[in-house]
Amino acid sequence: MIAVDGPAASGKGTIARALARHYGLPHMDTGLLYRAVALNLWRWGGDPRNEFEALRACDDLGFDPGDEELRSEPVSRIASAISAYPSVRSALLERQQDFARQPGGAVLDGRDIGTVIAPDAGVKLFVTAAPEARARRRMKELSGRGMSAHFEEVLADIHARDERDSTRPVAPLKQASDALLLDTSELTVEQAVAEALRLVEEAAAKA
Ligand code: CDP
Repeated sequence: MIAVDGPAASGKGTIARALARHYGLPHMDTGLLYRAVALNLWRWGGDPRNEFEALRACDDLGFDPGDEELRSEPVSRIASAISAYPSVRSALLERQQDFARQPGGAVLDGRDIGTVIAPDAGVKLFVTAAPEARARRRMKELSGRGMSAHFEEVLADIHARDERDSTRPVAPLKQASDALLLDTSELTVEQAVAEALRLVEEAAAKA
């Protein structure tokens, strides 16, 4: 089982998908679960500041991963807020652990895969990049979806999200002590994927 963690727009999702394809493993983007809860809450008009309402939004969590609204700005903001609630995290725990423990192996990406969801993962990658590099990627991603944004605002949002993700008391974003660090600041997508594969192969050879 491969755990891929890291901050927003670090390239962890792209790397996790590429590893899954390479090894023929199923992949779970765990950020989508938090986004699905956020979208549920948003559609009901629930209050993200209310943990109980956020927890109710975890019930019957069916969602379409292709739903564009999952990646919209309001939903991203709500996802970031509700992911700090212990009750929301534990409501989503079993689903992630069942996926991680399936017999043939799996790739999961998120914030706490190597630390909380699957501390016994065979290989752990912690994918990061400088905030400016991540802001540039997010700008490109937004313009690809026909949305405009200001660099300074996107960068400020990345800083704010990093701060929230790494200072929350439950399952904060942090590199597991046995995770391999991959900094993608200066790498193209192809280079980052190649480096991730190299790290996984190296770790597997040592094991
Ligand atoms: O790429 P970005 O960080 O914008 O989004 P994501 O990975 O789809 O995650 C959405 C939100 O869920 C983020 O604000 C994360 O803080 C949170 N999240 C989390 O708390 N734990 C995870 N395992 C995955 C995501």
